[in-house]
Amino acid sequence: MIDRWRLHGHAIVSDDHCIAAADGTVPPGLRNDADWARFQAALDAAVVTVLGRRGHEANPNVKGRGRIVLSSSAEGIERRADTWWWNPSDAPVEDALARAAPAGGIVAVPGGRRVFDFVLRLGFDEFHLVRAAGVAVPGGIPVFSAVADGLSPEVVLARHGLSPAPTEVLDAAERVSLVVWRRRA
Ligand SMILES: NC(=O)c1ccc[n+]([C@@H]2O[C@H](COP(=O)([O-])OP(=O)(O)OC[C@H]3O[C@@H](n4cnc5c(N)ncnc54)[C@H](OP(=O)(O)O)[C@@H]3O)[C@@H](O)[C@H]2O)c1
Repeated sequence: MIDRWRLHGHAIVSDDHCIAAADGTVPPGLRNDADWARFQAALDAAVVTVLGRRGHEANPNVKGRGRIVLSSSAEGIERRADTWWWNPSDAPVEDALARAAPAGGIVAVPGGRRVFDFVLRLGFDEFHLVRAAGVAVPGGIPVFSAVADGLSPEVVLARHGLSPAPTEVLDAAERVSLVVWRRRA
């Protein structure tokens, strides 16, 4: 059905599994140059990026990449001046991807939480989980809603059919590391 596209999630999380503070801002501890370079390269390699409206507003599409913004304000799938907008309640994911990236390819999914929850149900092909060790964001926004039930992101990914590759250190001094989780065959 959506075989033409491969869904790759990307998140950098704190020790308490958060992607941002409660107000949606990203604390300095979750910003890292090595991770940012890796993340930008991943976006360049993708045919389209799928993200939530708040993330879109916080990170305008200055490079003019293909982008789909999820929002309840969209009517189905809309082409607005800045990019594609999509309301999943009105139109299926296949239609949104077919409009924005008809040839298929890698779809980068940088969240936030509700977008990650949504794509978990569809099925990630890969999830690039970066950890910033020693960083805490008390009361912040967790990467997946299931974190609130006491589950780590690793448990959530394993329960959704993904397996971890070996840990890759991105920045030893800042203790930032990456694990790519891939769908089990
Ligand atoms: N550390 C990281 O790796 C990381 C990852 C992602 C995001 N972030 C940061 O975290 C901040 C906040 O993230 P967030 O999770 O609060 O917000 P978000 O996902 O960026 O945006 C949330 C908004 O997206 C729309 N949305 C999401 N899922 C939807 C669905 N299924 N149907 C309809 N609309 C949907 C809604 O917009 P409407 O209100 O318009 O309906 C919702 O209010 C962002 O500003 C970003 O900078 C960090």
